Amino acid sequence: MTGRTDGRERPRRVEPPASFVETANVTSEVREAFEREGHEAWRRAADLLEWSSPHETVLDREAESLTWFAGGQLNAAYNCVDRHLAERKNSVAIRWEGADGETRVYTYLDLYNEVNAAAAALRGLGVGEDDVVTLFMPGIPELPITMLACARLGALHNVVFAGYSADELRARLERTGSGYLVTCDGYYRRGSAVNQKNKADNARTSVEHPVETVVVPRLDDPYLSEGQHDYEDLVDAHAGDRVDPVERAAEDPLFVTYTSGTTGEPDRVTHTTGGYLSHVAWTSHAVLDIEPRDTYWCAADVAWITGHSYIVYGPLALGATTMLYEGAPDDPERDRVWELVDRNRVDVFYTASTAVRSFMKHGAEHPSAHDLSSLRLLGSVGEPMDARAWEWYYESVGGEECAVVDTWWQTETGGILVSTLPGVDRAKPGSAGPAIPGVEVDVVDAGGESVARGEPGHLAVTAPWPGMHRGLTEAAAAEGEDWAYVTSDRAILDHEGYVTFLGREDDTVTVGDTDYGPATIERVVLEVEGVAEAAVVESHQEGGRAVVYVCTERGVEGDAALTERIDHHVAERLGEDTQFARIVVAPDLPKTHSGKIMRRLLSAVADGESYGDTSALRNPEAVGELETVSGDGD
Ligand code: WTA
Repeated sequence: MTGRTDGRERPRRVEPPASFVETANVTSEVREAFEREGHEAWRRAADLLEWSSPHETVLDREAESLTWFAGGQLNAAYNCVDRHLAERKNSVAIRWEGADGETRVYTYLDLYNEVNAAAAALRGLGVGEDDVVTLFMPGIPELPITMLACARLGALHNVVFAGYSADELRARLERTGSGYLVTCDGYYRRGSAVNQKNKADNARTSVEHPVETVVVPRLDDPYLSEGQHDYEDLVDAHAGDRVDPVERAAEDPLFVTYTSGTTGEPDRVTHTTGGYLSHVAWTSHAVLDIEPRDTYWCAADVAWITGHSYIVYGPLALGATTMLYEGAPDDPERDRVWELVDRNRVDVFYTASTAVRSFMKHGAEHPSAHDLSSLRLLGSVGEPMDARAWEWYYESVGGEECAVVDTWWQTETGGILVSTLPGVDRAKPGSAGPAIPGVEVDVVDAGGESVARGEPGHLAVTAPWPGMHRGLTEAAAAEGEDWAYVTSDRAILDHEGYVTFLGREDDTVTVGDTDYGPATIERVVLEVEGVAEAAVVESHQEGGRAVVYVCTERGVEGDAALTERIDHHVAERLGEDTQFARIVVAPDLPKTHSGKIMRRLLSAVADGESYGDTSALRNPEAVGELETVSGDGD
């Protein structure tokens, strides 16, 4: 039953586990309702929230900027905190695990008190509706607390990843005109203290406008520069204060953020209050199957959209317990993730597909050393998930009893758009799944015309959805019914409407006469027994031929026999002319902080070119290791 797919046979289909189906949040009735009612069916998403004024229309296409839930008024912090007090004030809202072993637990009542005090403190500094407040902190509780404090005030947060340089912070302060910064003195990472405040100070003093700054004391020896405020002093001074949640119109902005920018300059993205919050609450409910009694863990950084939507807003809107982890998934031990799942009895776990491959590389003995029976659903995001990683996640982590969802979405989409409905749809390992109910997708060519089913092209989203960012709502209103959002993701749509992702357009690799999405070739390489991770890039030095980087599973030699097996398998699957210029066996692949493989950097290494700054990498040491192996390899 667990036979591997090799792509030539009819792909394996996996029915949702029976125990999961019994309790799943949504049934096939939901898909039918969306088919019957069209965009009106999205009111189900809005109905998961509490509105101070109800919406007049679900989707208004007539307005200058297309509007979801027009006429509706709400406050996001009220929805994520206050409204749960009646029934759940003593339930845990945030369960925090610090990198230094410290833990903290916030009930919904604690969170209510903290958010109010922080909102009162920020208001005291002058923060008002529509001001932009920049947050520059790692995964400590003060980060979601200040995000919610901003939302309470109707101010927009602008979270900047804590690992970014002073320069990146300066650029984001400038581009958003943000006059407020909440940062921390430092934090712990892999056993050592990292200074954060120097970076914040450098950025702050190089922007032209004044920036009121608050510093969270995280390290033992906090210090403040002239004119800065200590977060704890401020919040203590406002303890017990109450700030009325500011009513926001559905289309009023909730926050700003930037696209991940692995391939180019990051773009600014603004998400709305009503549409965005409805979308993330709905997908947390329908796709991640989160229930209020669940302990849920999304192992991402809060600074990325994944963290905004699925650590903070989605699970808290539903009244669940969300886990927040400050450290690295393999620190201090390789089984850290499983130890946390076990000890906290995690019900739903969501992580990057590249993380799944790393876990697989470390070996199944790590998950199997722990009691993971609390898990009900496993989710993946961020890069295409190949069939073997899917099977490993399903078997070695889920014990074949968990639903597994591969969710596709982007910073621009706000929340999940493509995924199986875990209690309804069969999974096809290696394919993300159909568009979720209410979302319409197509695969189009460079001219925007639909390609035949089964042919590769660009994924296009052809109907509006509530989580769409503000830039898209304007374009959609201007272009009317013909509007489509064409992404730079290459994909294939099959006859059942399932989408298989092939990688980003900018990463296309030419092999023989064919242009491939990198994932097409990587999937085939990953079918080879013993290969845990793979990345394929084009090498200019090699006349445009492809170089493949692989990491092996634990205990597997990266020797000539392995590279021969890879060559042989690829030739068999993709044709004899699919010859790689080189196969490089490396200990690790360079990945961005949000878990994406940096293929651009790998092509620079393959060509012996300079690859510049590696501060955007989570594992910069991987680059040094690559140079050594690449140098030896040829
Ligand atoms: C990629 C992260 C294949 C894709 C939520 C997209 C995926 C980009 C998947 C957005 C998936 C995300 N399968 N590819 N399940 N999920 N991607 O903005 O290339 O950081 O365009 O948002 O990640 O990355 P972003």
